[in-house]
Amino acid sequence: MFKTIGRRLLSSQSTLALRKKPLQPPEPIDEAPYPLPTSSRGVERRRLDDMHYGIARYLKRLTYAPLENPSRILELGSGTGAWSVEAAETYPSAEVVATDMSPLPETLKIPSNLTFKQMNFLDPFAFRPGQFDVVHMRFVMIHLPNPKNYIHSLASLLRPGGWLLLEDVNHTLLDAKRPVGPGVQALYRGYYEYMHKQGVDPGVGASLKNMLQTAKQFSEVNEAVVPCYMNPKSTEDPALQDLGEILKYSIDGVYVGIMDKVGPAGGITPEILRGWRREVNDPERDLRIDMHLTWSRKM
Ligand SMILES: C[S@@+](CC[C@H](N)C(=O)[O-])C[C@H]1O[C@@H](n2cnc3c(N)ncnc32)[C@H](O)[C@@H]1O
Repeated sequence: MFKTIGRRLLSSQSTLALRKKPLQPPEPIDEAPYPLPTSSRGVERRRLDDMHYGIARYLKRLTYAPLENPSRILELGSGTGAWSVEAAETYPSAEVVATDMSPLPETLKIPSNLTFKQMNFLDPFAFRPGQFDVVHMRFVMIHLPNPKNYIHSLASLLRPGGWLLLEDVNHTLLDAKRPVGPGVQALYRGYYEYMHKQGVDPGVGASLKNMLQTAKQFSEVNEAVVPCYMNPKSTEDPALQDLGEILKYSIDGVYVGIMDKVGPAGGITPEILRGWRREVNDPERDLRIDMHLTWSRKM
């Protein structure tokens, strides 16, 4: 009996094997002009997860938006999936859809109310308009050309009264005490020049609120600015100290990672990077990068 079933199973499996190609893990879509490595593995995955947990520890919640039992939540640019997993666990009765051009990490524990769709945001959305209560996008606007036009497409995915959560950094080092030094200036001159040539704006975080207000699609637009300090002595809040440290090593890793591509094109030499590093670690300076968190209610 066992042998017969075993043989039947074996023969049906081998027929399937003949008919189907072996399953391969999905590959990232590589037509999108994205300069960073794929988010689902290695150092990039660790960097993004560390950022997520640093932000979560500071916020002590998923978002500042007053969400009331949302039933459909969409995340665009889910990266390692950390925010989507937290959304699915916070709202177990909601259906959460995570999307990205890179697949979710193979080892991620995916809650049963979370599904993933691989897509390129530069293509038209494959979702019906008005079907989500919440749309979340973090650290992605900074990689999209014409981010202002994009806000209309994002708003179209929301039902009236739904929340758009847009979160990004103003990728600029600011100093509360004195002008920034030559290392920081030289690095950002090259970086901004390169990114502007790609049609994207590294300072988009600082423009989010204005873009959302002028879109005239929202009954309210709210913003919280979170200062991420390079010098832990700039704040007494341990969660902000951690977040600043994480952001500092995170952007250092980004610059090292994109050096081959951006360095020569933006005139950023290893000496400039070393100068930047000296200044951000200088205990006499009070440098910070601002993270802009917005939550806006669709009319
Ligand atoms: C800096 S990561 C941020 C990931 C995640 N939101 C987070 O906060 O950790 C940017 C993500 O956007 C995705 N991305 C960038 N451009 C994209 C595009 N055109 N279409 C789809 N995904 C894109 C990247 O694959 C990456 O996972």
